[in-house]
Amino acid sequence: MAFATRHFVRAASSDAATAAAKKLLIKHVTIIGGGLMGAGIAQVAAASGHTVVLVDQSDEILKKSTKGIEESLKRVIKKKFADKPEAGAEFVKKTLQNLTTSTDAASVVHSTDLVIEAIVENLEVKNKLFKTLDKFAPEHTIFASNTSSLQITKMANATTRQDRFGGLHFFNPVPMMKLVEVIKTPMTSQKTFESLVDFSKAVGKSPVSCKDTPGFIVNRLLVPYMMEAVRLFERGDASKEDIDVAMKLGAGYPMGPFELLDYVGLDTSKYIIDGWHSLEPNNPLFAPSPLLNKLVEEKKLGKKTGEGFYKYK
Ligand SMILES: NC(=O)c1ccc[n+]([C@@H]2O[C@H](COP(=O)([O-])OP(=O)(O)OC[C@H]3O[C@@H](n4cnc5c(N)ncnc54)[C@H](O)[C@@H]3O)[C@@H](O)[C@H]2O)c1
Repeated sequence: MAFATRHFVRAASSDAATAAAKKLLIKHVTIIGGGLMGAGIAQVAAASGHTVVLVDQSDEILKKSTKGIEESLKRVIKKKFADKPEAGAEFVKKTLQNLTTSTDAASVVHSTDLVIEAIVENLEVKNKLFKTLDKFAPEHTIFASNTSSLQITKMANATTRQDRFGGLHFFNPVPMMKLVEVIKTPMTSQKTFESLVDFSKAVGKSPVSCKDTPGFIVNRLLVPYMMEAVRLFERGDASKEDIDVAMKLGAGYPMGPFELLDYVGLDTSKYIIDGWHSLEPNNPLFAPSPLLNKLVEEKKLGKKTGEGFYKYK
């Protein structure tokens, strides 16, 4: 028995070693979508020595993304290189040297190890993109989506590389937030999964893994919590101000649920909850909220529009 156990342990560790040996070392990355998330991912990938091509629909958008990255890097060096301004300037220079932009994804993926998609949260649009890129990217290239609420499996099925497809869910703002959820579908190979975990670590993040389930870990817990706060307020049990104070001072959360909803965007939150509700209509945690729907209809979407649950003007 002792021998069998030892033998098993040795076999398991040698399997792990073989899988590790086969992992893909990701050096060249293409990021599609230069918005809030894509620009952040491009920044941390370039800052950690990867060569990055950032893709979006127009040069104008990409100029804005690059400017945002430069400003964010300046904030980073103020903290990280406070007493070494020359090293800070060198860090910015090297990071920007690692970064190029393009408006033509198909023409830049030919030499990429990893494609990270961070475009609009729409399955049809994402599938169309992945289907096209599947034809142009080399065989070894891994595809990953940064989606918050869509099924990775459905995107993987739009391609012929289901085993080289996974989720890389970064958090906003990317340069600050340490977490990445690495999502493994039933078809994602161990090699792909481990390569994505290694990449997440290489860009300075702490990866956790989750199956391809609605909301993965963080949003699956966070969104129903925020919706419960809205329902508590809708019933008139407590004011939104008191609920926010209670969760900050009583639970130690950095923001209250209404502050967080305004920060995330009420449209985004509504979109997520509506999607889950259609998947599981009888799950009370995924029930839509009349108040949230009303605010979205009135275009009160949170901080970005100057008003959500609170006013910011
Ligand atoms: N905002 C968040 O807090 C957050 C957090 C985690 C994950 N996400 C996910 O990240 C993704 C992007 O979100 P965001 O907040 O950065 O959105 P965003 O609107 O800021 O940026 C999306 C960008 O994609 C570009 N784009 C759209 N279609 C394109 C195409 N076919 N080809 C190239 N570029 C295209 C747009 O021009 C835009 O610049 C979504 O899937 C979202 O669910 C968002």
